[in-house]
Amino acid sequence: MSLVLADEAATEAAGAALAQLLRAGDLLILTGPLGAGKTTFTRGLGRGLGVRGPIASPTFVIARLHPSQVGGPDLLHVDAYRLESAADVDDLDLDSDAAESVTVVEWGKGRAEQLAAERLEVELTPIGRNGEARSISLTQVGSRWAQVNLEEHLA
Ligand SMILES: Nc1ncnc2c1ncn2[C@@H]1O[C@H](COP(=O)(O)OP(=O)(O)OP(=O)(O)O)[C@@H](O)[C@H]1O
Ligand SMILES: [Mg+2]
Repeated sequence: MSLVLADEAATEAAGAALAQLLRAGDLLILTGPLGAGKTTFTRGLGRGLGVRGPIASPTFVIARLHPSQVGGPDLLHVDAYRLESAADVDDLDLDSDAAESVTVVEWGKGRAEQLAAERLEVELTPIGRNGEARSISLTQVGSRWAQVNLEEHLA
């Protein structure tokens, strides 16, 4: 499914709305060009999940675990921008955290799919003449997502 996100607040709200569907072990792969809104969307996920912030663009830290403040899953926020390959992601040794968390990987395409066979692929694309808005498209991979009605939660 895809949606238009008119501004930054809409991107965050989409993340917060999606968070209501998420549970421990879920993997989200975020793609989109530099500045597409991946961190903004993750901030919304964090708000929706009720995890401790702030969710920021990592400087040196590639993976950050945000603990739940509401007894739900933690949020494991990974930025794979500086990583070259799936092997680099594997070297982070995220598996034990990922089992108990919702894992979100910015720049994860081609690098993080091996973390879970089932995943949600989220693509953010600048739209409009000057890229003043975004479109978001979500692709559901695997049986975990097969029965989930994203339209109902996000539209
Ligand atoms: N729907 C939207 N419409 C217009 N601007 C938006 C929208 N969503 C986010 N933005 C803006 O896009 C900019 C970049 O956002 P953000 O840092 O989340 O992108 P990113 O994809 O994480 O970037 P990077 O590639 O550096 O990790 C911010 O200034 C944010 O306000
Ligand atoms: Mg970012």
